[in-house]
Amino acid sequence: MTKAQPTVVFENQTVYLLDQTLLPLERVMITIPDAPTMWEAIKVLRVRGAPAIGVAAAFGLWLGVKNLPEDTTRSAFLEKLIETRDYLATSRPTAVNLFWALDRMMQRLQASNFLSASDLKNAVLAQALAIKASEEQTSNLIGEHGVPLLAGVSSILTHCNAGSLATTGIGTALAPIYAAAARGQIIHVYADETRPLLQGARLTAWELQQAGLPVTVITDNMAATVMRDKNIGAVIVGCDRVAANGDFANKIGTYGVAILAKEHEIAFYVAAPFSTIDFATPDGLSIEIEQRHADEVSSFGLRRTAPEGVNVFNPAFDVTPAKYVTAFITDRGVIRAPYFENLKAANAKPLE
Ligand code: MRU
Repeated sequence: MTKAQPTVVFENQTVYLLDQTLLPLERVMITIPDAPTMWEAIKVLRVRGAPAIGVAAAFGLWLGVKNLPEDTTRSAFLEKLIETRDYLATSRPTAVNLFWALDRMMQRLQASNFLSASDLKNAVLAQALAIKASEEQTSNLIGEHGVPLLAGVSSILTHCNAGSLATTGIGTALAPIYAAAARGQIIHVYADETRPLLQGARLTAWELQQAGLPVTVITDNMAATVMRDKNIGAVIVGCDRVAANGDFANKIGTYGVAILAKEHEIAFYVAAPFSTIDFATPDGLSIEIEQRHADEVSSFGLRRTAPEGVNVFNPAFDVTPAKYVTAFITDRGVIRAPYFENLKAANAKPLE
């Protein structure tokens, strides 16, 4: 069975992150002592990928209150919790999992009747650990639900990294690949390099290599050729937020990949925890898209590749209309169009 990468680790009352900005050259676990350090880690993508960001933010909330004096009253404790929640929520705007995790923590704490600071701290930590554990379970379910869709498929194409490094489990888009491998079906993954931050080349390629699975890195502009010439049986991507109508945001470039898949009559699957579906967002146009620093585009690593002062457009994500999605692969099962109705129905169905 594929081992999940240790993206967010809690040991001896300490939070650690695998610093993904250093991969694939160095595999370094960094200590996160406080909420500002967690905010920075999310902002600069030391931890990234929607589910992992949610887990990291949950631990960030605990870091924000863990040193409050023991005589802190419940109301002062909750006030600090809200302040830390609001602060962490400013780190990255697009992945709804960040807000989902923070809101779930706040709701559970506000509904509790703990009075002492130590009981409240323990409850915050227990919630963060529960969110981490549930993301592991969610990844496994996505993997199980995705495997039947890949029957007879020998190669897939993916964009960005929606693997183990993006979750605290075996991933979302890559979960069916790992689950299929566990059953003896080895699927070759073509990984778009994913400019500008190269999550595909640096992270997807690295984690698949670590797992001993076949992977080929391509530049983003090779996707059409690969779809035509390399027997791609499906495209699977992750996502950062699904609107109520099935439009979804994912790493910039996903929209183009979806259009290419349609042109080549290749199934286009979106794998996501159900918590990534944001019923409060009616459609893709309402999703806030993170804009990032110009340097990410005007340089390649430390080397400048565009003239000083040139205009740069650098959205971190794009929105793909629901009409391009063959199905969503979620922990609640495979959901097909019509998405507005079927996502709502899956949400209403009691969990087994
Ligand atoms: O900017 P990133 O690296 O956080 O973007 C990640 C993605 O776009 C992933 O595809 C998405 O978060 C899904 S991760 C399971």
